[in-house]
Amino acid sequence: MIGIAIEYTEKVMDHFMNPRNVGEIPDADGAGTVGNQVCGDVTNVYIKVTDGRISDVKFKTFGCGAAIATASMTTELALGKTLQEGLAITRDAVADALDGLPESKLHCSNLAADALHAAIKEYMAKN
Ligand code: FES
Repeated sequence: MIGIAIEYTEKVMDHFMNPRNVGEIPDADGAGTVGNQVCGDVTNVYIKVTDGRISDVKFKTFGCGAAIATASMTTELALGKTLQEGLAITRDAVADALDGLPESKLHCSNLAADALHAAIKEYMAKN
């Protein structure tokens, strides 16, 4: 069997080994769930909103190491932002904040960014 080594940046490894904002917000103001049909991974993002800003954000993922790292970074980018600023956090912005992802793992950053957007949109639909 031939193994293929994937090179991760130090930031990816840091967020994978020490993920920030892991967990669930039971009384979340908005929640989003996004899965990838190809790999089967799923990420959930929960937000609390105070005065129009994301005052708390947590994630859970059944995903690969890159999914964990990108979800962790997404929550760091989102915390304290307005809803519009949160919607403007793109998949590329998450990958850039991690100093890049290997080509084969770029799709992993889609999960958390898309789940964040889904959580914000759910909040907006309710309010
Ligand atoms: Fe599916 Fe990373 S391999 S999210």
